[in-house]
Amino acid sequence: MIELDPALRAPVLIEALPYIQRFAGHTVVVKYGGNVLGDEAASLQSLAEDLVLLSHVGIRPVVVHGGGPQIDELARRLGVPIERRDGLRVTDAAMLEVVRLGLLGVVNPSIVRALNRVGGRTRSVGLSGLDGGLATARQLDAALGRVGEVTAIDPTVITAVLERAMIPVVASIAAGDDGGELNVNADHFAAALAGALGATKLVFLSNVPGILADPTRGDSLISEVELAELDELLEAGVLGGGMVPKVHAAREALARGVCEVHVLDGRAPHALLVELFSDAGVGTMVRGSR
Ligand SMILES: Nc1ncnc2c1ncn2[C@@H]1O[C@H](COP(=O)(O)OP(=O)(O)OP(=O)(O)O)[C@@H](O)[C@H]1O
Ligand SMILES: [Mg+2]
Repeated sequence: MIELDPALRAPVLIEALPYIQRFAGHTVVVKYGGNVLGDEAASLQSLAEDLVLLSHVGIRPVVVHGGGPQIDELARRLGVPIERRDGLRVTDAAMLEVVRLGLLGVVNPSIVRALNRVGGRTRSVGLSGLDGGLATARQLDAALGRVGEVTAIDPTVITAVLERAMIPVVASIAAGDDGGELNVNADHFAAALAGALGATKLVFLSNVPGILADPTRGDSLISEVELAELDELLEAGVLGGGMVPKVHAAREALARGVCEVHVLDGRAPHALLVELFSDAGVGTMVRGSR
């Protein structure tokens, strides 16, 4: 518990009131990177507290998670080779099995457990894109193997969970239009889901302070950026690795009507609450190009 002068507690809570009023009833999709989960176990506790609080004040949080490091770790233990192209994982049949094990066997239940521990009566439900026919995808590129791009979202199962004031936690595996399963990059999955749910915000929680003008310098945070500027940074090679799918996903989400996209440091305690409930500009806010 943080030491805070009792006289200061009330103003801090009251400062949140206009934000709570603004966002009550709105859906917020939170993409939780496997990278944060690996870096800081404490970040999961902090995220769980934030999500449960949001749910209690009538905001509808939906979690989509990745699992990069956890899948890599399993692949190494099982002797399955790891390859990425433009931040996307090359996924042959053996890797698809590892992806399922990592996402559905390790990462998803650990988030659900954390939420249920702090949630009290607020329960959490673990799902993947297969459940309730949530996500359908087609193969993106034969060279990437079983990697898919989402072609359709049926959000019925998510809205059913939200209607019961429970928090859905979704692993980014989709049903392939060829009858198989497809590994969808979690950033893209989150963008498609945010669009289909009519979400107000899409928040990426990753292991960096936000989008950096120089990826080697943590103090080069870009607080606000337009999509057109991101294209220039992509071309200049400033955005690499896992930031590439995030930029494309941000574009996708804004095009599908999501109002705001943020990239925040998931390692910072309560980054999500600070972003939602105060004027403090944390991380990067991505705006559509005018
Ligand atoms: N300009 C940049 N600013 C910030 N991060 C960058 C930049 N260029 C490349 N990156 C890389 O992008 C990474 C974040 O993407 P990454 O895919 O690794 O994590 P994630 O998406 O949060 O987790 P997961 O893929 O497991 O869901 C950072 O750790 C950083 O190394
Ligand atoms: Mg990633």
